Amino acid sequence: MSSSNSKEPARPQHRTHTDTTDQQQSVQRRSKSAEEIADAYADVADKLARWRQLDRLFAGRYRRRQFEHATGRVLDVACGTGRNFGYLSSASEVIGIDISNETLAHARGELDRLELDGTVQQMDAQALDFPDDSFDTVISSFSTCTFPDPISALHEMERVCTPGGEILLLEHRRSDATPLAWLQDWRANSHYEKNGCRLNHDPLETVEQAGIPVENASTAFFGLVTTIEATPR
Ligand SMILES: C[S@@+](CC[C@H](N)C(=O)[O-])C[C@H]1O[C@@H](n2cnc3c(N)ncnc32)[C@H](O)[C@@H]1O
Repeated sequence: MSSSNSKEPARPQHRTHTDTTDQQQSVQRRSKSAEEIADAYADVADKLARWRQLDRLFAGRYRRRQFEHATGRVLDVACGTGRNFGYLSSASEVIGIDISNETLAHARGELDRLELDGTVQQMDAQALDFPDDSFDTVISSFSTCTFPDPISALHEMERVCTPGGEILLLEHRRSDATPLAWLQDWRANSHYEKNGCRLNHDPLETVEQAGIPVENASTAFFGLVTTIEATPR
């Protein structure tokens, strides 16, 4: 396992910007619609909910590290089955949104199970139905890989986050380990077709393209996982 933690946003070491852009574009050219993504997650919502222990084993430590200090009124964008809710002990209120009603049914159950003050709502991350500056912290995990237009979704996160608030992301990315990266590149198109997820994307590059200031970024687990802390402009 490799990990790094740095004030400098983490960067892959072994390829050029042009390589990244070419690989990402090959998938982005065929972006699925929000409805297609919702359908894809409707089909797997129950399976995802059953994988709670597995998720805790592999992603739990990253979720805890990234989200345990999320304070105040917290929005979880693309909350899925509510995996992050158990790590939001510093939040005063939790609002989760997702495009998939089927995953939200599990997220609602998770709010009840954890006895958290909060709600979940069906909503498109690219058109959040909240006024500007509504949340102290906006979090999102393993989501920018699935948004048809991740930059719009990031701009929406920025819009609804109060000035002085935080946008906290936990994402997967193209690995720093060459064999893993090749495997991701090889599977990228078929994985996107089947799951609507860009396996080899670069979330930090997307946040930078969105123009949102990045305060901190780190990578872990052979560079497959990244955490990003950003602040609204
Ligand atoms: C890989 S899952 C991650 C779920 C959850 N954040 C987690 O960490 O387990 C991606 C989620 O993004 C949601 N999603 C995809 N596109 C969306 C959109 N445009 N608006 C809201 N949610 C979306 C999917 O329905 C799915 O629940």
